[in-house]
Amino acid sequence: MRRFGDTALSSAAGIPAQPAVPHSDWDTLRRLFPYLWQYKWRVLAALAFMVGAKLANVGVPVLLKNLVDTMDIKPGDAVAVLVVPVGLLLAYGALRLTTTLFAELRELVFAKATQGAARSIALETFRHLHALSLRFHLERQTGGMTRDIERGVRGIESLISYSLYSIVPTLIEVALVLTILSVKFDTWFAWITLGALAGYILFTVTVTEWRTQFRKQANEFDSAAHSKAVDSLLNYETVKYFNNEDFEAARYDESLVRLHQARLKSQSTLSVLNTGQQLIIAISLVAMLWRATQGVVDGRMTLGDLVMVNAFMIQLYIPLNFLGVIYREIKQSLTDLDKMFTLLEREREVADAPGASALVLSSDGRLSAAGSSQGANAPSVRFEDVSFAYDPSRPILHHLSFEIPAGKTVAVVGPSGAGKSTLARLLYRFYDVQQGRITIGGQDIRQVTQASLRQAIGIVPQDTVLFNDTVEYNIAYGHPGASRTEVEEAARAAHIHAFIAATPKGYDTMVGERGLKLSGGEKQRVAIARTLLKNPPILIFDEATSALDSANERAIQAELQSVAHNKTTLVVAHRLSTVVDAHEILVLEAGRIVERGAHAALLAQNGIYARMWALQQSSE
Ligand SMILES: Nc1ncnc2c1ncn2[C@@H]1O[C@H](COP(=O)(O)OP(=O)(O)OP(=O)(O)O)[C@@H](O)[C@H]1O
Ligand SMILES: [Mg+2]
Repeated sequence: MRRFGDTALSSAAGIPAQPAVPHSDWDTLRRLFPYLWQYKWRVLAALAFMVGAKLANVGVPVLLKNLVDTMDIKPGDAVAVLVVPVGLLLAYGALRLTTTLFAELRELVFAKATQGAARSIALETFRHLHALSLRFHLERQTGGMTRDIERGVRGIESLISYSLYSIVPTLIEVALVLTILSVKFDTWFAWITLGALAGYILFTVTVTEWRTQFRKQANEFDSAAHSKAVDSLLNYETVKYFNNEDFEAARYDESLVRLHQARLKSQSTLSVLNTGQQLIIAISLVAMLWRATQGVVDGRMTLGDLVMVNAFMIQLYIPLNFLGVIYREIKQSLTDLDKMFTLLEREREVADAPGASALVLSSDGRLSAAGSSQGANAPSVRFEDVSFAYDPSRPILHHLSFEIPAGKTVAVVGPSGAGKSTLARLLYRFYDVQQGRITIGGQDIRQVTQASLRQAIGIVPQDTVLFNDTVEYNIAYGHPGASRTEVEEAARAAHIHAFIAATPKGYDTMVGERGLKLSGGEKQRVAIARTLLKNPPILIFDEATSALDSANERAIQAELQSVAHNKTTLVVAHRLSTVVDAHEILVLEAGRIVERGAHAALLAQNGIYARMWALQQSSE
């Protein structure tokens, strides 16, 4: 349901089409870096601990060698027989412990940096999403997008843990081992190790690159399946109305089948990778041990040396074993992160002009009656020759000009699809006009900040959607921090207090997903209450009472009129009886004002308005 148009439409409308330009992995890393560098001391400390852990780790086989070699001591030497092995054993234990200790310390120190960076990025993305235009949000698929963000945040964590905790330490260890091997023994060992490493890495990277496509496909299908599930559940009622559970299930299953095929492919290619890696490791291990055994036989090496070489290799190949997984995870994390960063780079269609200032609410020389302080600075609103189209090929509004004088009410009536709600969206600056301008108190709304603009306007929209929280939360949303008394006052004005008070949980009643546990009229009144609580100088009522019964509508209408008193108000209505008192009534048809004037004058004209009026009077 949340899909109007498509991307072709948005690019046609002059909005830069934004295909996800894949960045290089280095770009992504560079973008991530500043977030981490906020914690530079932690990063540096973690690196120091890591080097410490690796030094201790490399020390273990060396000690092991000494331990084995001391076993050769002549039995007569009591001190040597006891002290040396015991001392070495203790040192061996201590080193092992140190390795773990350093690793844990590093984790401890670094966790805060990882979490902090993840939090900053997630928050920034969230804020950015709110800053993006309505157009973007109407086109997006909520489920798929939240999945992307989720994966992006997880990507940061796995990227950091894999690169910093696996790749870098392994490289350090390899360097240390190679140095020891080539210094202590003949260069054969170093060459074999190097060769095996090169082969191993080359093989892993190549196969993994080839496998990435399957993983990517799996992810795409995963997001698609998720989108479908979320969209379908959001439309729970519609699904039921049309008995379409099986259809929805089939659609979902279609995605699942493709997802599973992609995952299977991914799994089977993983086996190829693992087997190849083990082969390379086995060959090099055999070669090393062959050289070492030869060395012992020739008397060039001690038994301890043999043990040490073996221990080195086993220690070195354990992390290598995970290299395939790690490489893939890193690539994957980078892709996920890139997706999130791309979201961050999406340009805002409606952005504050450089140097935009806050909207100034002057009284326009028409101060209101004393006593209603809120209305005192209601500004005038002017639409000057406004033309607008959501999609350039289909203009919606044509050269509209009208003014709502400060503190007055202007009503817009007309057939469905005429563009009435569009007027409200333009005034709110959800979209920018393509021609002409809209001013508030003489200031072009494109020249003021969006925050100050929206602060000044209150809207009761045509379709009210509520947060899945309590009634109180939803009303107080108009003015976060409002007290219970203020909330109740607004609820009374909107004629919903009695209803709320009569429910078992009162103001703590949960309204359900999108407010669906309330009736249409109740929802509308909650929306009115929260707008009253916001109490802005400019009001927009877009069919604000359309879902109410006549009795309630009349009662609220009186209330709304008293609130709108001295406020600059735009009313959209189908029921003409609700707008008879308006300063001016505009009859809008297909984006053009076809008639305008006060109620009596319009009736006297005996035109479209008079006919609409007669029709409604007779049906009532
Ligand atoms: N986001 C959008 N993208 C493209 N077209 C849109 C969009 N929103 C509305 N429209 C089109 O613009 C036209 C005017 O819509 P608008 O909501 O202003 O009508 P309305 O006068 O408020 O009608 P109603 O009385 O039914 O609420 C409609 O034909 C609608 O299809
Ligand atoms: Mg409308």
